[in-house]
Parts: sequence; structure tokens; C-alpha cells
Amino acid sequence: MACPENMLFLIVLFISGVLDCFGQRDLITTMPDRLDVLTGSCVQIPCSFDIPDQHKDTFNSTILLSGVWIKENFGRLPDNVIFNSSKTVNRYQGKITGNMSQMNCTTVFFNVTTNYTNIYFLRIESQPYHATDPDKSINIVVRDLPSSPIITVSGEVKEGTPVSLNCSAVAPCPEHPPELTWTLPTQFTPENQLQEKSDQTKSVLSTVTFTPSYLHHEKNITCTAVYPVGTSNKTAEHNMMLNVSFSPKDTSASISSADPVFVDSCVNLTCSSTANPPVTTFTWFKISECKTQVASGQSYFLNVTVGDGGLYYCEARNSHGCGKSNEVQLAIKGQEEPVNPKVFEIVGKTLGLIFLFSLIVFFEWRRRTSRLPSGFDMTDRSQGLVGMNSPVGTVCTNQATAGEEPEEPAEDQPEEIQYGDIDFSKLQTKETPATAQDRVQGQESEYAEVNVTGSRAQLPPLNNLDELYAQVN
Ligand SMILES: *[C@@H]1O[C@H](CO)[C@@H](O)[C@H](O)[C@H]1NC(C)=O
Ligand SMILES: *[C@@H]1O[C@H](CO)[C@@H](O)[C@H](O)[C@H]1NC(C)=O
Ligand SMILES: *[C@@H]1O[C@H](CO)[C@@H](O)[C@H](O)[C@H]1NC(C)=O
Ligand SMILES: *[C@@H]1O[C@H](CO)[C@@H](O)[C@H](O)[C@H]1NC(C)=O
Ligand SMILES: *[C@@H]1O[C@H](CO)[C@@H](O)[C@H](O)[C@H]1NC(C)=O
Ligand SMILES: *[C@@H]1O[C@H](CO)[C@@H](O)[C@H](O)[C@H]1NC(C)=O
Ligand SMILES: *[C@@H]1O[C@H](CO)[C@@H](O)[C@H](O)[C@H]1NC(C)=O
Ligand SMILES: *[C@@H]1O[C@H](CO)[C@@H](O)[C@H](O)[C@H]1NC(C)=O
Ligand SMILES: *[C@@H]1O[C@H](CO)[C@@H](O)[C@H](O)[C@H]1NC(C)=O
Ligand SMILES: *[C@@H]1O[C@H](CO)[C@@H](O)[C@H](O)[C@H]1NC(C)=O
Ligand SMILES: *[C@@H]1O[C@H](CO)[C@@H](O)[C@H](O)[C@H]1NC(C)=O
Ligand SMILES: *[C@@H]1O[C@H](CO)[C@@H](O)[C@H](O)[C@H]1NC(C)=O
Repeated sequence: MACPENMLFLIVLFISGVLDCFGQRDLITTMPDRLDVLTGSCVQIPCSFDIPDQHKDTFNSTILLSGVWIKENFGRLPDNVIFNSSKTVNRYQGKITGNMSQMNCTTVFFNVTTNYTNIYFLRIESQPYHATDPDKSINIVVRDLPSSPIITVSGEVKEGTPVSLNCSAVAPCPEHPPELTWTLPTQFTPENQLQEKSDQTKSVLSTVTFTPSYLHHEKNITCTAVYPVGTSNKTAEHNMMLNVSFSPKDTSASISSADPVFVDSCVNLTCSSTANPPVTTFTWFKISECKTQVASGQSYFLNVTVGDGGLYYCEARNSHGCGKSNEVQLAIKGQEEPVNPKVFEIVGKTLGLIFLFSLIVFFEWRRRTSRLPSGFDMTDRSQGLVGMNSPVGTVCTNQATAGEEPEEPAEDQPEEIQYGDIDFSKLQTKETPATAQDRVQGQESEYAEVNVTGSRAQLPPLNNLDELYAQVN
């Protein structure tokens, strides 16, 4: 019977004890939990206090208030008092810089030594009010060497996209803040400022913005903080290696045999490139009247047949774009040197020009003589011009966007008339002004009728009218 009563008594005692403890908080101080300080330097403790309601009547802020700092164990007065603002000589050299009447107890201690490392409590004394806050203390950690500044990077470091870097160094002694300097592989103008964190501690922030290039990949960057301490300096730095992502660069194609090779022998074409992230696809092309994709993979191993002679190049691609290589020649013993494709191009263009011109003249004549829809013939034949007019290798030039170029089905934009791509405009300029003017109206109606979609590179060769009709919506 006695047992439960005792327990009940103990619980009541415990609860009242807890309540007492809450009631006993006669002073409420606000300061950071921890400060990291440099030997020989100063430390500023951001501090403010408040008087609980039950003491508001005994507290008079116009009466001289003294601030007392107690280390370790606030119960052991006066042994542990290290600073008393009412005294002129103290164990710690310091000063309350805050306005105590405004409940600002901000304090600075000078010439800090490692044995200052401890926890500290604040006590406020006036007449008749005096109290210590037992629930809040600050941990001061004094070190001989400053802590390293911290570099932060805004997002992904990508070639051509401006990136900003922050370097932040704590300034426990705001009177002597650290000076921040950068080492970067490029030109920059830093912007420095003194910052205040949410717990009122100070730090120096330096921001630089620069546009990385692929040449900056794997280069070190450094932010150095120089802390003035007395007559000397103490430095700390943060090193970081840049990881710049970039589209394939220095793409080059090589051939295992520069000399002419026999039919049925083996030849190895190899593509090399540097990219970050690494190249995901290598594609091989053979240059002919239309460029043709012949293989994929970093090396193209081929058992030579009669038709294999010619110029080859490769394209390397990663998520950021692509790079096109030089051309390498596969020469076959006993075969003529392949005709330079430029010759084909010139001949093709000239023929195309003449052909187109006669076509235009023909159409204008037909359009005026009959009102039959006549656009199909024209687009059908102009198909041939697509190959001739698109210079080999233009696909891979736009390195910035090529990677994002989706191979989405053309049906997604049925309104778009992709034939706008055909290089009529260039040819048009070579016409006489009179025919060109005539053509402008004709061109529109013809284009409107043919709603074929698909990009230039993806167009299948159309060999006859039936195929073309099949693609007309
Ligand atoms: C505070 O002290 C001043 C001067 O000592 C006195 O004039 C004033 O009335 C006091 N205020 C309160 C609220 O007691
Ligand atoms: C602070 O100094 C004043 C004036 O000398 C003194 O009256 C008071 O007791 C001191 N406080 C402590 C906690 O030592
Ligand atoms: C307290 O005083 C310090 C030093 O004078 C000052 O820097 C700080 O801004 C003050 N804090 C507030 C809350 O006024
Ligand atoms: C401290 O604050 C009080 C009240 O706001 C003001 O009268 C006094 O001049 C201030 N003292 C200093 C040193 O700024
Ligand atoms: C702290 O150490 C210094 C020497 O580094 C010594 O002069 C001083 O008395 C020590 N102070 C305390 C409070 O132990
Ligand atoms: C750099 O600091 C500024 C100001 O505090 C902040 O707005 C920005 O987001 C920071 N940038 C990075 C990369 O951390
Ligand atoms: C770059 O920094 C690393 C450590 O972060 C260091 O080992 C390397 O030597 C530095 N390289 C250069 C070129 O400074
Ligand atoms: C504190 O440091 C200053 C220089 O920063 C020096 O002039 C002064 O003598 C030092 N005081 C003590 C007590 O060591
Ligand atoms: C300390 O660093 C500053 C620059 O931050 C420099 O001007 C000064 O000469 C340095 N002092 C010494 C003693 O190295
Ligand atoms: C290349 O192919 C031909 C016929 O397919 C074959 O006879 C020849 O041995 C092959 N050469 C090599 C090196 O594999
Ligand atoms: C082609 O050459 C590359 C590089 O020289 C080599 O890594 C690869 O194994 C070769 N391929 C064949 C099939 O020999
Ligand atoms: C550098 O960035 C690339 C892509 O952004 C990533 O795949 C790679 O792991 C990164 N390398 C390092 C050392 O962080």
C-alpha cells in the first residue's frame, strides 16, 4: 500500500521540480552555441538578453547594469568570473561593446589564448535585480590555425555557361576580418562583403563569376583567407578541382594504314575525342554525294571491298553536343584516286541551279496556262537538291544545341512545313529580279499544298511521285 503512494509523491516532487526549474530562469540570454577563434586574435560574442516577466518590476534598465562572464560552472562564484564590466581589471581582457540599456550584451575579448577554450555563461547585475542564465552558454574554441574557407558553386559547371563561386570565411573578430583572394585559371573580379549569419556571427563572403571553357576542366581553383593576427598573418585555403562538362573536343579520326590497301585486307578506323562526360556514341560517315552513315563505335574495323575507298570521318557525341573529326582517306590499291567530293558538290550545285531555274520557268509557264495543282512535281525533284545543297558536315556544327536536338517524330508539329528548309532562298537570289518577284507568290501556294514533315537529314529519298503523294497530308 505504501509503494504507490511513495511513487505518486516522487512524481509530484519531480514535476514540481521541473516547474521550479522553469520558474527559476531569471534571465534569458541569446548567443551563438559555438565560436571558433584564432589564437592572438579577438573574439566578438554576439549577445542579447531579456528579463522574464516576473522580474520586470525589479529590473530598471536606466540603473547602471553590469555584465559578468562566468566560465565553466556558473555556480562557482566568484572563482569562475573571468570578466566583470564593473571592474577595471579582469582575468580576460575584454569590453562589452553592446548597449546594455538596450539589452545588448555583445562582448569582445582580446588577445585570445588556447586556454580560453571553454563554455561561458552570462550574468547581469544591477540594483536590486541580478541573475545568471543557467540554460544558455557559449562554447568558445580557440585554435592556432584558422579554419579553411568554404567554396560553394552555383549548379553545374558547364562550358559557356556563367558560373558563380562563393568563398566564405568566418570572421570571429570582425575588427580584423580575413582577406579573401582567389586563384582561378581565368580573369575575374571578386566582390567581397562582410556578412552576418542568423546567429549574428560574422563572415566574409567573396563571390566571383566567370564563364568556364573546356580548357578549365580539371584545373585547380583556390580561395585563400588571410587573417591578420597582431603583426603577422595566418592563412587557410580551400582547393577545388574544376569539373567542367563540355561537348566533344579534339575529335580526330585515324586510319591504321595510310598507304593504299588491298581489297579483302583489314583496315581499322579509330576515332578519338575528349569530352566530359565521356563520349557516348561515335558514328562513322563516308563522304559520297550524300554523306552516309556507315558504322557506329569508336573503331570501325572493315574488311575492304572494292567500293570502300573514299573519305571517312567520325562524329563523337555526349549529352552536351557533338564534335566532328578530320577526314581520313581509305585508298585502295589499283583504284583511281577517288574524285574529290568537292568536285561533285560544285557540279551538283551547278546542275541543280540550271535544273531549278528551268523548273521555275516551266512552273511559271504551267501555272499561268493551267490552274492544276502542280507543286508536287517540284518538291519531288527538289528532293535531289537537298542532298546537293547541304554541305557535308553541317549537322554537327552547332555544338551547343546538337546534344539536345531531339529526334522526335515530325508528326509532333504537323503545321510546320519542313520544306522551308530547302535551300531555295539562296538560289532565288541568283535569279533575275523579274522571275524572283513572280515566284514569291507561286512559292507560297506550292509550299502550302505540300505538308510533308521531317527534317532535312531524315527525309527518305523520294524516287517517284507515288511515294511523294503518300507523304502528303
Ligand atoms: C529607474 O531608475 C530611475 C533612476 O534611478 C528612476 O527615476 C525610475 O523611476 C526607475 N524606473 C522604474 C520603472 O522603477
Ligand atoms: C562585479 O563587480 C562589482 C563591482 O566591483 C561587484 O560588486 C560584483 O560583486 C561583481 N560581480 C561578481 C559576480 O563578481
Ligand atoms: C549590439 O551591439 C553590437 C556592438 O555594438 C552591434 O554590432 C549589434 O548590432 C548590436 N545588436 C543589436 C541587436 O542591436
Ligand atoms: C544606449 O541606449 C540608451 C537607450 O536607448 C541611450 O539613451 C544611450 O545613449 C545609449 N548609449 C550609447 C553609448 O549608445
Ligand atoms: C593561459 O595561458 C597563458 C599562456 O599561454 C598564461 O599566461 C595564462 O596565465 C593562462 N590563463 C589562464 C586563465 O589559465
Ligand atoms: C553566394 O552567396 C549569395 C549571398 O549569400 C547567395 O545569394 C548565393 O546563392 C550564393 N551562391 C552560391 C553558389 O552559394
Ligand atoms: C590541385 O589540387 C590538388 C589537391 O587538391 C593537388 O594535389 C594538386 O597538386 C593541385 N594541382 C595543381 C596543378 O596545383
Ligand atoms: C594584446 O595584443 C595587442 C596587440 O594586438 C598588444 O598590443 C597587447 O599588448 C596585448 N595585450 C596583452 C595583455 O597581451
Ligand atoms: C599580411 O597580409 C596582408 C594582405 O592580406 C599583406 O598586405 C601584409 O603584408 C601581410 N603581412 C605579413 C606580415 O605577412
Ligand atoms: C575479307 O572477306 C573475304 C570475303 O568475305 C575473305 O575471303 C577474307 O578472308 C576476309 N579478310 C579478312 C582479313 O578477314
Ligand atoms: C582498332 O584500333 C584501336 C586503336 O588503335 C584498337 O583499340 C582496336 O582494338 C582496333 N580494333 C581492331 C578490331 O583491331
Ligand atoms: C565530373 O562531372 C561529370 C559530369 O558532370 C561526372 O560524370 C563526373 O563524375 C565528375 N567527376 C568528378 C571527379 O567529380
